[in-house]
Amino acid sequence: MEIRVQAGAIQEVAAEMIVVNLFQGVTGPGGATGAVDKALGGAIRELIQAGDFRGKAEQAAVLYTRGAIPAKRVLLVGLGEQNKFGLDVARRVAGTVARKAVELRVTQYHSIVHGAGVGGLDSEDAAQALVEGTILGSYTFTEHKTDLSEQEPRLEALTLVELDPLTVPAHERGATVGKAIAEAVCFVRDLVNQPANYLTPTLLAEAAEEMASEMGLSSQVLEEAQMAELGMGALLGVAQGSAEPAKFIILEHNAGRPELDTYVIVGKGITFDSGGISLKPSEGMEAMKDDMSGAAITLGVLRAAAALQLPLHLVGLAPATENLPDGRAYKPGDVLKSMSGQTIEVISTDAEGRLILADALSYARRYQPKGVVDLATLTGACVVALGHIASGLMGNNPELNRALIQASAETGEKIWELPLYEEYAEQIKSDVADIKNAGGRPAAAITAGLFLSGFASGYPWAHLDIAGTAWADTTKGYLPKGATGHGLRLLVQWLRKLGEK
Ligand code: BES
Ligand code: MN
Ligand code: ZN
Repeated sequence: MEIRVQAGAIQEVAAEMIVVNLFQGVTGPGGATGAVDKALGGAIRELIQAGDFRGKAEQAAVLYTRGAIPAKRVLLVGLGEQNKFGLDVARRVAGTVARKAVELRVTQYHSIVHGAGVGGLDSEDAAQALVEGTILGSYTFTEHKTDLSEQEPRLEALTLVELDPLTVPAHERGATVGKAIAEAVCFVRDLVNQPANYLTPTLLAEAAEEMASEMGLSSQVLEEAQMAELGMGALLGVAQGSAEPAKFIILEHNAGRPELDTYVIVGKGITFDSGGISLKPSEGMEAMKDDMSGAAITLGVLRAAAALQLPLHLVGLAPATENLPDGRAYKPGDVLKSMSGQTIEVISTDAEGRLILADALSYARRYQPKGVVDLATLTGACVVALGHIASGLMGNNPELNRALIQASAETGEKIWELPLYEEYAEQIKSDVADIKNAGGRPAAAITAGLFLSGFASGYPWAHLDIAGTAWADTTKGYLPKGATGHGLRLLVQWLRKLGEK
């Protein structure tokens, strides 16, 4: 989508559609909305007085201008209560407007920047939120649809209109950042929405390499023989049952710049999780194509880091394999030797995510990172605990956790910390090996986190369990149903802040 910023009065813009807004309870619109109302001879006031528009967040009304102004339509959108307003509401509103436009078959429109005036938001942040919300809200995945007649058009361009020319540079900066981040999220969503027969570990690795060369990232893909040489017995154990070869994807931003601090992102890349020999029930199993969301987000974070030229050395690690039952598959009771040297008793072949992450976390140590964050659709228990609203946060470093919570608050991507109390470790003690890969139903998100913590030693580490947030069953605000990319924006925000230091 093309994003433009222009100075001027929105009521004077010739366009298919212009967008203005209103806070809840406002009866006499001011600013740009007031100017449009005046130019339309009080049409917006009439709508409010009739009780048809109360300004509830995301409420939308379309007005036809009958030649009173150069624009063909006005979309009036509610911003909700002023005391509840913030960047995330602005983003949600932008997403809803974008889908409304597409429904009207409007492919280009001009909008004021929600919240930049009376809303009290910083101009740059408000523009970023508008652009993010618009691109994210209008996202669709239609690659496998062949009946094109039913399809809505794609949004082609958004123009931000600002009365004060002195504010334009801030809007331009925000728009550029917002576009880079939102496009990285769309890249992630495309990978996650892709069915597993179109996204094997090999194809995921190819997509990563293609993106890397496009964005100027270094890339390397380890084959199974190299994994064996490194001693990645946990990852290879999971891969045993699949006819598709496992891949270990490594992307690097600012490689070979030793003066920069190094951070590592690690993502679970199970391109399909059947559960393996500990087979999942067939109902709903199709959802397990999203079990590579962590890997996709890892690639997306690297993509955004390159686009934004973040002044950090950033490494992305994505171990990728299918988890399938087979005559050669690993079995409950098997003991695997991980790259760290620790042996793991397999209780459930469905607790495969922590196995592939264990080896990736060991591999991360070679970079002597200042921080490592992993993302994984790791446990059903996390979905039970936090639903589809927040990701689970666990980690070994309070300062890192705090920084991630801060970035979460700034981006609207909610996370909530779960405690890695030592007492829980009792549940994953093994009689035959150093540790076992499943600890029963109680606190299963935490025992998974504790399992990972044993492999993430020697550096500050945090784990995000995105099992409940990676996928949306319903369309809301800037999250159309399907893959969400949840976690990317908060990690990029965290890294941007680190880069400023
Ligand atoms: N990929 C699943 C977790 C998952 C479940 C993600 C539901 C999204 C929705 C993971 O590999 C898994 O199967 N976890 C098991 C672990 C258990 C066997 C210890 C789980 O949570 O049931
Ligand atoms: Mn599983
Ligand atoms: Zn899984």
